[in-house]
Amino acid sequence: MTTHAADTAEPIGPQRQALEDDLVATVVASFDGTADPRLRQVMQSLTRHLHAFIRDVRLTEEEWNTAIEFLTAVGHITDDRRQEFVLLSDVLGASMQTIAVNNRAHKGATDATVFGPFFVDDAPEIPLGGDIAGGASGQPCWVEGTVTDTDGNPVAGARIEVWECDEDGFYDVQYTDDRIAGRAHLFTDDTGRYRFWGLTPVPYPIPHDGPVGKMLDAVGRSPVRASHLHFMVTAENLRTLVTHIFVDGDPQIEIGDSVFGVKESLIKEFSVRAPGTPTPDGRDLGDRTWARTRFDIVLAPAGV
Ligand code: BEZ
Ligand code: FE
Repeated sequence: MTTHAADTAEPIGPQRQALEDDLVATVVASFDGTADPRLRQVMQSLTRHLHAFIRDVRLTEEEWNTAIEFLTAVGHITDDRRQEFVLLSDVLGASMQTIAVNNRAHKGATDATVFGPFFVDDAPEIPLGGDIAGGASGQPCWVEGTVTDTDGNPVAGARIEVWECDEDGFYDVQYTDDRIAGRAHLFTDDTGRYRFWGLTPVPYPIPHDGPVGKMLDAVGRSPVRASHLHFMVTAENLRTLVTHIFVDGDPQIEIGDSVFGVKESLIKEFSVRAPGTPTPDGRDLGDRTWARTRFDIVLAPAGV
């Protein structure tokens, strides 16, 4: 059984206090000789915060061992296809905090959000108006927009990577058959415009069959993410944007996104069209419904 240190804690006398302070000071000083000043700053600050946390909750030895076992399990389940450390960072909000620290708002530039573990290099290239589904199931969704800089100039030739799960809530890499589906890249035209067919996003749980899922369970939190479509946009001399768009009206936005990725500015209208409604590019979708959305992307200058 876990010891509830807070319930049994006695007041800490000045002698213990001084001992604990001394240890922090000694460990901090052990990094004084670090040649790289940034590494020194990071290690010393980490030491102060870690010790402050241990002292704040009066961490028991049993809890410390549980933490070590937990991190060991996170390492053991991590491989080329499964990144449990990224999941851990995401559900603790550490990924979003790092993004907040590193992506200062700049003159209307599009907000960034969490990268997640499902991006794959070398996704196929599609032409403008092409389809990213590659056999993934779901409601077809026409996505269009522009890429501009913060002065409103169109960005021609911007590389747009897009990826999303199928209607069952799984990314291609979560299947064992090496399929490539629900992902692609394309380039903006000379006027900075882009368009493609994707799938209307659906809510899905982040992988929760491992230690991070167990932790969420223990604290009564849901693993479900609000419906979204991932983008990564790169262009010369402009800040790379990693983001997603979310579906206006998705109840999961109110319920809460398990990795804290939702930003108001990234919630977009996805309007659903009845079967037979003419599509923007004349594609015949037979008796299927389809949706459309617009996402105009503004890139900040590199280095701001
Ligand atoms: C994702 O959106 O793909 C994702 C983000 C964080 C954790 C797991 C998945
Ligand atoms: Fe995702």
